[in-house]
Amino acid sequence: NAKKTLADLYRLKENKQKFSCITCYDYTTASIIAGTDIDTVMVGDSAAQAILGHRTTLPADMDTMVKLTAAVRRGLPESLVIADMPFLSYQISIAEAIRNAGRFITEAGADIVKIEVSEHDIDTVRAVSRAGIAVMAHIGIRPQSIGLSGRLRAEGTTAIQARGLIDLAQRMVDAGARMLLVEGTAREIAAIITRRSRVPVLSCGSGPDCDGQVLVITDVLGLNEGAKLPKFAKCFGRVGENIREALTEYDKQVKNASFPDDATSYHIPAKELEKLNK
Ligand code: KIV
Ligand code: NA
Repeated sequence: NAKKTLADLYRLKENKQKFSCITCYDYTTASIIAGTDIDTVMVGDSAAQAILGHRTTLPADMDTMVKLTAAVRRGLPESLVIADMPFLSYQISIAEAIRNAGRFITEAGADIVKIEVSEHDIDTVRAVSRAGIAVMAHIGIRPQSIGLSGRLRAEGTTAIQARGLIDLAQRMVDAGARMLLVEGTAREIAAIITRRSRVPVLSCGSGPDCDGQVLVITDVLGLNEGAKLPKFAKCFGRVGENIREALTEYDKQVKNASFPDDATSYHIPAKELEKLNK
Protein backbone atom coordinates (compact mmCIF):
# COMPACT_ATOMS: atom_id res chain seq x y z
CA ASN A 1 0.00 0.00 0.00
CA ALA A 2 1.92 2.99 -1.34
CA LYS A 3 1.54 6.29 0.46
CA LYS A 4 -1.22 8.39 -1.09
CA THR A 5 -1.62 12.13 -0.79
CA LEU A 6 -4.41 14.49 -1.76
CA ALA A 7 -2.32 15.37 -4.82
CA ASP A 8 -2.38 11.69 -5.86
CA LEU A 9 -6.18 11.70 -5.79
CA TYR A 10 -6.19 14.81 -8.00
CA ARG A 11 -3.87 13.01 -10.42
CA LEU A 12 -6.11 9.93 -10.42
CA LYS A 13 -9.12 12.13 -11.22
CA GLU A 14 -7.23 13.77 -14.04
CA ASN A 15 -6.30 10.36 -15.46
CA LYS A 16 -9.89 9.15 -15.02
CA GLN A 17 -8.70 6.39 -12.68
CA LYS A 18 -10.94 5.37 -9.78
CA PHE A 19 -9.82 5.39 -6.18
CA SER A 20 -11.18 3.40 -3.27
CA CYS A 21 -12.02 4.42 0.27
CA ILE A 22 -13.40 2.43 3.19
CA THR A 23 -14.44 3.49 6.66
CA CYS A 24 -12.32 2.27 9.57
CA TYR A 25 -12.57 2.84 13.30
CA ASP A 26 -9.76 0.88 14.95
CA TYR A 27 -6.07 0.03 14.88
CA THR A 28 -6.41 -3.70 14.21
CA THR A 29 -8.60 -3.27 11.14
CA ALA A 30 -6.43 -0.39 9.94
CA SER A 31 -3.40 -2.71 10.09
CA ILE A 32 -5.24 -5.17 7.84
CA ILE A 33 -6.22 -2.40 5.40
CA ALA A 34 -2.52 -1.44 5.27
CA GLY A 35 -1.91 -4.70 3.40
CA THR A 36 -4.41 -3.87 0.63
CA ASP A 37 -4.48 -1.42 -2.28
CA ILE A 38 -7.30 0.66 -0.74
CA ASP A 39 -6.28 4.25 -1.42
CA THR A 40 -7.73 6.13 1.52
CA VAL A 41 -9.65 5.50 4.75
CA MET A 42 -12.37 7.48 6.43
CA VAL A 43 -12.98 7.48 10.16
CA GLY A 44 -16.71 8.07 9.81
CA ASP A 45 -19.08 9.16 12.53
CA SER A 46 -20.85 5.96 11.46
CA ALA A 47 -18.66 4.73 14.34
CA ALA A 48 -21.58 5.78 16.52
CA GLN A 49 -23.55 2.97 14.87
CA ALA A 50 -20.87 0.43 13.97
CA ILE A 51 -18.80 0.68 17.17
CA LEU A 52 -21.10 2.12 19.81
CA GLY A 53 -24.43 0.64 18.72
CA HIS A 54 -26.43 3.85 18.39
CA ARG A 55 -29.30 4.16 15.93
CA THR A 56 -27.97 7.34 14.32
CA THR A 57 -24.58 9.01 13.89
CA LEU A 58 -25.54 11.89 16.19
CA PRO A 59 -24.02 10.61 19.46
CA ALA A 60 -20.48 10.54 18.02
CA ASP A 61 -18.48 13.24 19.83
CA MET A 62 -15.12 14.91 19.32
CA ASP A 63 -13.17 13.02 21.98
CA THR A 64 -14.36 9.66 20.66
CA MET A 65 -13.70 10.58 17.03
CA VAL A 66 -10.22 11.95 17.78
CA LYS A 67 -9.29 8.79 19.71
CA LEU A 68 -10.57 6.50 16.94
CA THR A 69 -8.84 8.55 14.24
CA ALA A 70 -5.54 8.39 16.13
CA ALA A 71 -5.92 4.61 16.42
CA VAL A 72 -6.56 4.27 12.68
CA ARG A 73 -3.56 6.49 11.96
CA ARG A 74 -1.34 4.20 14.06
CA GLY A 75 -2.43 1.23 11.95
CA LEU A 76 -2.03 3.13 8.67
CA PRO A 77 0.97 5.42 9.18
CA GLU A 78 1.32 6.06 5.44
CA SER A 79 -2.28 6.38 4.27
CA LEU A 80 -4.50 9.31 3.51
CA VAL A 81 -6.83 9.49 6.53
CA ILE A 82 -10.12 11.40 6.36
CA ALA A 83 -11.70 12.31 9.71
CA ASP A 84 -15.43 12.92 9.97
CA MET A 85 -16.42 15.96 12.00
CA PRO A 86 -19.22 14.83 14.33
CA PHE A 87 -22.56 16.44 15.10
CA LEU A 88 -22.18 19.82 16.88
CA SER A 89 -18.42 19.99 16.32
CA TYR A 90 -18.71 22.62 13.55
CA GLN A 91 -22.30 23.95 13.68
CA ILE A 92 -22.01 26.13 16.77
CA SER A 93 -19.43 28.65 15.61
CA ILE A 94 -16.66 29.04 13.09
CA ALA A 95 -14.12 29.28 15.91
CA GLU A 96 -15.21 25.90 17.28
CA ALA A 97 -15.16 24.44 13.79
CA ILE A 98 -11.55 25.50 13.22
CA ARG A 99 -10.46 24.32 16.69
CA ASN A 100 -12.14 20.95 16.30
CA ALA A 101 -10.92 20.43 12.74
CA GLY A 102 -7.43 21.26 14.00
CA ARG A 103 -7.66 18.60 16.72
CA PHE A 104 -8.05 15.93 14.05
CA ILE A 105 -4.86 17.17 12.42
CA THR A 106 -2.70 17.78 15.50
CA GLU A 107 -3.99 15.14 17.94
CA ALA A 108 -4.96 12.36 15.55
CA GLY A 109 -2.75 12.88 12.50
CA ALA A 110 -5.63 13.09 10.00
CA ASP A 111 -5.04 14.55 6.54
CA ILE A 112 -8.55 15.76 5.67
CA VAL A 113 -11.65 16.64 7.66
CA LYS A 114 -15.11 15.92 6.30
CA ILE A 115 -18.03 18.22 7.07
CA GLU A 116 -21.70 17.60 6.21
CA VAL A 117 -22.69 20.85 4.55
CA SER A 118 -25.64 22.91 3.40
CA GLU A 119 -25.54 26.42 1.98
CA HIS A 120 -25.31 27.68 5.58
CA ASP A 121 -21.86 26.13 6.01
CA ILE A 122 -20.03 27.96 3.23
CA ASP A 123 -18.31 30.35 5.64
CA THR A 124 -17.28 27.43 7.85
CA VAL A 125 -15.72 25.56 4.94
CA ARG A 126 -13.92 28.75 3.89
CA ALA A 127 -12.60 29.44 7.39
CA VAL A 128 -11.38 25.89 8.06
CA SER A 129 -9.73 25.80 4.63
CA ARG A 130 -8.08 29.15 5.27
CA ALA A 131 -6.66 27.73 8.49
CA GLY A 132 -4.72 25.33 6.28
CA ILE A 133 -6.90 22.27 6.73
CA ALA A 134 -8.14 20.29 3.74
CA VAL A 135 -11.93 20.02 3.86
CA MET A 136 -14.08 17.39 2.21
CA ALA A 137 -17.57 18.87 1.77
CA HIS A 138 -20.23 16.18 2.20
CA ILE A 139 -23.48 16.82 0.28
CA GLY A 140 -26.55 14.80 -0.66
CA ILE A 141 -27.87 12.62 2.15
CA ARG A 142 -26.56 14.14 5.38
CA PRO A 143 -27.15 11.69 8.23
CA GLN A 144 -26.49 14.33 10.90
CA SER A 145 -29.64 16.13 9.71
CA ILE A 146 -31.93 13.16 10.29
CA GLY A 147 -33.68 15.09 13.05
CA LEU A 148 -35.19 17.51 10.53
CA SER A 149 -37.33 14.91 8.80
CA GLY A 150 -36.93 11.77 10.87
CA ARG A 151 -35.56 9.76 7.99
CA LEU A 152 -32.96 9.71 5.24
CA ARG A 153 -33.92 9.39 1.58
CA ALA A 154 -32.26 9.61 -1.81
CA GLU A 155 -31.31 13.11 -2.92
CA GLY A 156 -31.20 14.83 -6.30
CA THR A 157 -34.29 13.03 -7.55
CA THR A 158 -36.16 16.19 -8.57
CA ALA A 159 -34.92 18.93 -10.90
CA ILE A 160 -35.11 21.51 -8.11
CA GLN A 161 -33.13 19.33 -5.67
CA ALA A 162 -30.64 18.45 -8.39
CA ARG A 163 -30.02 22.07 -9.31
CA GLY A 164 -29.49 22.88 -5.63
CA LEU A 165 -26.92 20.10 -5.21
CA ILE A 166 -24.99 20.97 -8.38
CA ASP A 167 -24.90 24.59 -7.23
CA LEU A 168 -23.91 23.70 -3.67
CA ALA A 169 -21.03 21.51 -4.90
CA GLN A 170 -19.65 24.40 -6.93
CA ARG A 171 -20.01 26.85 -4.05
CA MET A 172 -18.17 24.49 -1.70
CA VAL A 173 -15.25 24.18 -4.10
CA ASP A 174 -15.25 27.97 -4.53
CA ALA A 175 -15.12 28.29 -0.72
CA GLY A 176 -12.00 26.13 -0.64
CA ALA A 177 -13.19 22.53 -0.24
CA ARG A 178 -10.43 20.24 -1.54
CA MET A 179 -12.72 17.23 -2.05
CA LEU A 180 -16.42 16.49 -2.31
CA LEU A 181 -18.42 13.57 -1.00
CA VAL A 182 -21.82 12.93 -2.52
CA GLU A 183 -24.02 10.54 -0.55
CA GLY A 184 -27.21 8.80 -1.65
CA THR A 185 -27.72 11.01 -4.68
CA ALA A 186 -29.16 10.20 -8.10
CA ARG A 187 -26.42 8.78 -10.30
CA GLU A 188 -27.08 11.28 -13.08
CA ILE A 189 -26.65 14.24 -10.75
CA ALA A 190 -23.51 12.85 -9.08
CA ALA A 191 -22.11 12.38 -12.59
CA ILE A 192 -22.77 16.03 -13.47
CA ILE A 193 -21.18 17.19 -10.20
CA THR A 194 -18.13 15.01 -10.86
CA ARG A 195 -17.74 16.18 -14.44
CA ARG A 196 -17.92 19.84 -13.43
CA SER A 197 -15.76 19.57 -10.32
CA ARG A 198 -12.06 20.33 -10.37
CA VAL A 199 -11.65 18.53 -7.03
CA PRO A 200 -11.99 14.73 -6.63
CA VAL A 201 -15.53 13.55 -5.89
CA LEU A 202 -16.11 10.57 -3.65
CA SER A 203 -19.38 8.68 -4.01
CA CYS A 204 -21.16 6.97 -1.16
CA GLY A 205 -24.15 5.38 -2.85
CA SER A 206 -24.25 7.90 -5.68
CA GLY A 207 -23.45 5.63 -8.59
CA PRO A 208 -20.34 4.65 -10.54
CA ASP A 209 -19.55 7.93 -12.29
CA CYS A 210 -17.74 9.68 -9.43
CA ASP A 211 -13.96 9.67 -9.05
CA GLY A 212 -13.90 7.35 -6.05
CA GLN A 213 -16.14 5.17 -3.90
CA VAL A 214 -16.56 4.77 -0.16
CA LEU A 215 -18.61 2.28 1.83
CA VAL A 216 -18.98 1.49 5.50
CA ILE A 217 -16.62 -1.36 6.36
CA THR A 218 -19.10 -3.37 8.43
CA ASP A 219 -21.37 -3.53 5.35
CA VAL A 220 -18.51 -4.49 3.02
CA LEU A 221 -17.23 -7.23 5.33
CA GLY A 222 -20.60 -8.72 6.22
CA LEU A 223 -20.03 -7.88 9.88
CA ASN A 224 -23.48 -6.55 10.66
CA GLU A 225 -25.60 -9.57 9.89
CA GLY A 226 -29.28 -8.90 10.19
CA ALA A 227 -28.90 -5.14 9.71
CA LYS A 228 -30.97 -3.61 6.95
CA LEU A 229 -28.45 -2.27 4.45
CA PRO A 230 -29.17 0.72 2.20
CA LYS A 231 -29.72 -0.06 -1.51
CA PHE A 232 -26.19 1.03 -2.38
CA ALA A 233 -24.30 -1.02 0.21
CA LYS A 234 -22.75 -4.21 -1.13
CA CYS A 235 -21.48 -7.03 1.03
CA PHE A 236 -18.17 -8.54 -0.16
CA GLY A 237 -17.40 -10.93 2.69
CA ARG A 238 -18.66 -13.14 5.47
CA VAL A 239 -16.61 -11.87 8.37
CA GLY A 240 -19.52 -12.08 10.82
CA GLU A 241 -19.87 -15.76 9.98
CA ASN A 242 -16.10 -16.30 10.34
CA ILE A 243 -16.13 -14.68 13.76
CA ARG A 244 -19.08 -16.77 14.89
CA GLU A 245 -17.40 -19.97 13.69
CA ALA A 246 -14.19 -19.17 15.55
CA LEU A 247 -16.06 -18.26 18.74
CA THR A 248 -18.25 -21.36 18.54
CA GLU A 249 -15.15 -23.53 18.27
CA TYR A 250 -13.45 -21.71 21.15
CA ASP A 251 -16.52 -22.13 23.34
CA LYS A 252 -16.71 -25.83 22.45
CA GLN A 253 -13.07 -26.50 23.28
CA VAL A 254 -13.31 -24.69 26.63
CA LYS A 255 -16.36 -26.70 27.58
CA ASN A 256 -15.03 -30.09 26.48
CA ALA A 257 -11.69 -29.24 28.15
CA SER A 258 -9.65 -29.69 24.95
CA PHE A 259 -8.46 -26.09 25.33
CA PRO A 260 -6.26 -25.18 27.04
CA ASP A 261 -4.01 -28.22 26.97
CA ASP A 262 -0.58 -28.97 28.36
CA ALA A 263 1.17 -27.36 25.38
CA THR A 264 -0.51 -24.01 26.00
CA SER A 265 0.31 -24.09 29.74
CA TYR A 266 3.29 -22.72 31.67
CA HIS A 267 5.22 -25.22 33.81
CA ILE A 268 7.23 -25.25 37.00
CA PRO A 269 10.39 -27.34 36.54
CA ALA A 270 10.20 -30.80 38.17
CA LYS A 271 13.05 -29.84 40.57
CA GLU A 272 11.11 -26.86 41.85
CA LEU A 273 7.95 -28.87 42.19
CA GLU A 274 9.87 -31.40 44.30
CA LYS A 275 11.06 -28.63 46.65
CA LEU A 276 7.52 -27.42 47.02
CA ASN A 277 6.32 -30.88 47.97
CA LYS A 278 9.02 -31.35 50.61
O1 KIV B 1 -19.78 8.22 8.65
C1 KIV B 1 -19.54 7.65 7.57
O2 KIV B 1 -19.18 6.47 7.52
C2 KIV B 1 -19.68 8.44 6.34
C3 KIV B 1 -19.46 7.80 5.01
C4 KIV B 1 -20.06 6.50 4.78
C5 KIV B 1 -19.65 8.72 3.88
O3 KIV B 1 -19.94 9.59 6.44
NA1 NA C 1 -20.53 10.35 8.45
